[in-house]
Amino acid sequence: MQRVSGSVGDLDRARLFRQKAVTVWLTGLSGAGKSTLAYELERRLIGLGHPCYVLDGDNIRHGLGSDLGFSKEDRRENIRRVAHVARLMNDAGLIVIAALISPMNEDRAMAREIIGDERFVETYLSASVDDCARRDPKGLYAKARAGEIASFTGVSAPYEPPANPDLRVDTVGQSKEASVSGIFDHLNKAFLMKS
Ligand SMILES: Nc1ncnc2c1ncn2[C@@H]1O[C@H](COP(=O)(O)OP(=O)(O)OP(=O)(O)O)[C@@H](O)[C@H]1O
Ligand SMILES: [Mg+2]
Repeated sequence: MQRVSGSVGDLDRARLFRQKAVTVWLTGLSGAGKSTLAYELERRLIGLGHPCYVLDGDNIRHGLGSDLGFSKEDRRENIRRVAHVARLMNDAGLIVIAALISPMNEDRAMAREIIGDERFVETYLSASVDDCARRDPKGLYAKARAGEIASFTGVSAPYEPPANPDLRVDTVGQSKEASVSGIFDHLNKAFLMKS
């Protein structure tokens, strides 16, 4: 089926919102800081007048992905759906911050393919399994290590760290503010326009 479009183009939306649309794809283990940094980044962008929205894996699973589990295939399908939503939101001119564990290289590559290379910033939040398990903000590592959660990334399911991420953010050796600044500065250079 052919795509249809109106006469409003990317440039019109970029001028309106003073930004080039982009998807910041946050990947990392549970507890690496995806939600924390996503919402902090959103707060900063909105404070500066930049329209943006967080697609957080936990929220997606209540609706768009509510029929999916945590098998390799279901995770892939979840990522495919989120990537298509991100693409639409980028088409609308918004900055998207996607916060999903997205453990497999090939699934993140699929997301890049769907969203478009120039709009996709793969952002690896680096924190080891032990660091995340020490934090254990949701008590999930304790449960997973006790065998109460199947297919838990880093414990009973794999995580493939990106070999060549567009951005790598240390979320253990620095403060949340410093981590979010690393992402913001990257956006500011390449995607945000001054008023
Ligand atoms: N530099 C940092 N960046 C991000 N989070 C940090 C940092 N330093 C400490 N933290 C803490 O680490 C925890 C990260 O938890 P968060 O819920 O954001 O992880 P998550 O990646 O969203 O996990 P999940 O995949 O389970 O949703 C929070 O308690 C946060 O306060
Ligand atoms: Mg989270």
